[in-house]
Amino acid sequence: MSEQLRQTFINAKNEGRKALVTFMTAGYPTVDDTIPILKAFQDGGVDVIELGMPFSDPIADGPTIQVANTVALNNGVTMKMTLELLKKARSEGVTVPVILMGYYNPILNYGEEQFIKDAAEAGANGFIIVDLPPEEAIKVRNYVHDNGLSLIPLVAPSTTDERLELLSQIANSFIYVVSRMGTTGAQTSVASDLDVLINRVRKHSGNTPIAVGFGVATREHFVTVGELADGVVIGSKIVTLCKEAEQGQRYNAVKKYVETILNGVKHSIPTIEEFQAMQRKSREEGQLTKDVIAGFKEAHKHKMNFGEFGGQYVPEALHACLRELEAGFDAAVVDPTFWEEFRSLYSYIGRPSSLHRAERLTEHCGGAQIWLKREDLNHTGSHKINNALAQVLLAKRLGKKNVIAETGAGQHGVATATACAKFGLSCTVFMGAEDCRRQALNVFRMRILGAKVVAVTNGTKTLRDATSEAFRFWVTNLKDTYYVVGSAIGPHPYPTLVRTFQSVIGNETKEQFAKLNDGKLPNCVVACVGGGSNSSGMFSPFEKDLSVRLVGVEAGGDGLETGYHSATLTAGKLGVFHGVKTYVLQDNDGQVHDTHSVSAGLDYPGVGPELAYWKSTGRADFMAVTDAEALEGFRLLSQLEGIIPALESSHAVYGAVKIAKKMPSDQHIVINVSGRGDKDVQSVAEVLPKLGPKIGWDLRFEQNPAA
Ligand SMILES: Cc1ncc(COP(=O)(O)O)c(C=O)c1O
Repeated sequence: MSEQLRQTFINAKNEGRKALVTFMTAGYPTVDDTIPILKAFQDGGVDVIELGMPFSDPIADGPTIQVANTVALNNGVTMKMTLELLKKARSEGVTVPVILMGYYNPILNYGEEQFIKDAAEAGANGFIIVDLPPEEAIKVRNYVHDNGLSLIPLVAPSTTDERLELLSQIANSFIYVVSRMGTTGAQTSVASDLDVLINRVRKHSGNTPIAVGFGVATREHFVTVGELADGVVIGSKIVTLCKEAEQGQRYNAVKKYVETILNGVKHSIPTIEEFQAMQRKSREEGQLTKDVIAGFKEAHKHKMNFGEFGGQYVPEALHACLRELEAGFDAAVVDPTFWEEFRSLYSYIGRPSSLHRAERLTEHCGGAQIWLKREDLNHTGSHKINNALAQVLLAKRLGKKNVIAETGAGQHGVATATACAKFGLSCTVFMGAEDCRRQALNVFRMRILGAKVVAVTNGTKTLRDATSEAFRFWVTNLKDTYYVVGSAIGPHPYPTLVRTFQSVIGNETKEQFAKLNDGKLPNCVVACVGGGSNSSGMFSPFEKDLSVRLVGVEAGGDGLETGYHSATLTAGKLGVFHGVKTYVLQDNDGQVHDTHSVSAGLDYPGVGPELAYWKSTGRADFMAVTDAEALEGFRLLSQLEGIIPALESSHAVYGAVKIAKKMPSDQHIVINVSGRGDKDVQSVAEVLPKLGPKIGWDLRFEQNPAA
C-alpha cells in the first residue's frame, strides 16, 4: 500500500496539483459519523486520509483534537473498532489511501507486529506514530515494510540534520513536516519561515514528497503552503467543523469544506477492484524485497535506559528541548562550581535533614529499630525543594527566564515557586483542577510566592493532565522556558537528573546512620512512591549495598481489587507514557487508567523507569498500602512521635511498620518522611468520616472541646 501512497503524490504532481491530506479522529463526534466523514473526504476530492486512533493522553495535540480523543474513547472506540471502521469504509467504496495516526502505547499494548498485520488487512496504507523515536521506528518499519505499508515520519522545525537523514531513510512514501513548534490546532496564519524548513528537509529527503501540517485551516493557507510543499494536511479545523455540524449533516459539511479548499478540483479514484489489486501487489512486494536501514544511535553521556525501561518517546518537536536540557545537565554535573552553588543552598533548605530514632514507634511495633529521615523539615515542607532548586540553577545556566512545572499535591509547585522567587525567574505551575481543589492551601502558597497557577481542566483533572499540559506548553515556548519536572519520571534525561539531585537524601542517610551506628548500614530503607523521586533519591546510594533491602510503598487507594488505586508497579504493565517506557496503569486497549489515592502526590498512572528496572531485577520490593492504612500511618506518626507526616509519606510509615514488626530488634529500618502533613489536614478532615471508621478513628468536632 506504500505503492498507492507514492502513486497518489506522483498523480497529484503530474496533474499540477498539491495533494490534500485530511484528518479525523475515529469515532468522533459519534462512531456512526466516521464512515460518512471518510466518504465525504473522498467525494470532496481528498488525496490521503489520516484516521486518528484515539489515545487517552495525546501530548502532541492541542485542545480540539484532545477533546476529540476523549469523546471517541467515551464513545467506546478501541483500536480494534478503529480497524473495523476502516475495513467497513473500504468495503463501502473508500479507496483513497488511509493512514492511521496515533500514539505508541496502544500499539505496543496490542502487539506491534500483530497490529500492523491487522491494519494491513483492514485496508490501511501506512502509519504515523507520533511518539515513536527513530531507534524504535527502525524495528516498526520492518514490520510495516513486510506488510507492504508505509511509516510516515514526522519532522519538526527543531529536527537536527542527523535525525533528518535517518527520518528521510525511514520515509518510503512521504514525509510529514510539522510547520511550527507546538501542538496541533487551527491557526490564523501559516508559519512564516516555512520555506527555510522545507529547503532544509529537501536537502536530506531528495525527491520524497513532503506534506505540511499544523495550523492549516483555509483555502488561502492551502495555496500558500502548497507553493512550497507537495501536500497539505488539515486536521483540527475539520474536527471543529464536525463538532459544529448537526448530526446527519456532517457528510455534507465536510464534503463542502473540502471542495472549498480544493476549489472544486477532483481527481480519479480507484475502484474497489483496483484498490484490492494494489493492496495485493504492495504486500507481495513487501514480502519479496528487503529494505534495510542502517542503525541509529545518538550519543548520550548518561544512559537513556534502565534495562528495558526509560528512553525518549516524545513527539519529534520535543527532542530539541530534551537535547538542550541533556547538554545543560551533562555540563553541570561535572562542573564543581555548579555543585558548590547547589551546596551553598543547603542552609536555605535546612540540610542536612536530620536522621533520628523513632522511640515510641519502635516500641509500638516491637520489632526492628525504626529511624526517620526528616525530609519534612526541609524548607517548604518536603523533599521536592532539593530537585526544584537544582533544576532552577540549571535553568539559570541555560539562560531561561521562564520556568514551568507540573504539580500534584502542590509540594513540587510550591518548591518550584520558591526557587523561582529566590532567583528572580517567572514561574507558571500546571495543576489539575481536582488537585487545586484538594490542595487549595498549596495553590494559595504558590500564588503568594508570585507564581501563576494554571488549573488544568482536561481529562481526570489530576497530575497526569497537568504533566501533559506542561509538555504542551514547553514545546510551544521552548526558547525561553525551562520545564522543572517534579519526579523521576518522563523522558531521558529527567529520571536520571531528578534522581541525581534527590540522591542527597540517601547519601546523607547513609553517612548519618553510619555515624550513629559504628559504621553500619541499615537493614532496610522504605520510601513512598508517586513518580519515584524521594524513593530513587533514597535508594540509589544503597543500590550496590546488597545487604540493604529497598522497599517502595505505593498508593493502594480503595484496594487493588477495586481498580481504584495508583499502585503502578504492583498492578501496572509495561507501556509508554509521558515520554518513557515503564510500568503504566492501563486498560486492555492501552488507554491509561484514571487513578485514585487519598494523597494527590501519589495519584499518577506511571512511575520512574529506574524503579521499574529495580522491580524487574528484584533489587527493590514494592507494596501497596490503602487509603485507610495510610491514614493509620498518619495517625501513628502523629500520635507516637509528634510528627504529622504528609499523606504520601504516611504510606511509607504504614508499610515500614508492617515490615518492622517482622524484623528482629537488632535490625534497623529507615523511613523516608518525604514531607509534612500541614497541607493534608483539610483532606484528612474530609476523608475521616469515610476512612476513620475503618481504623477506629473518630475525630469529628461534634462535641464542644471546651465543654
Ligand atoms: C510529600 C511528598 N512525598 C512524596 C511524593 C511523591 O512523589 P515522588 O514519588 O516523586 O517522591 C510527593 C509528591 O507530590 C510529596 O508531596
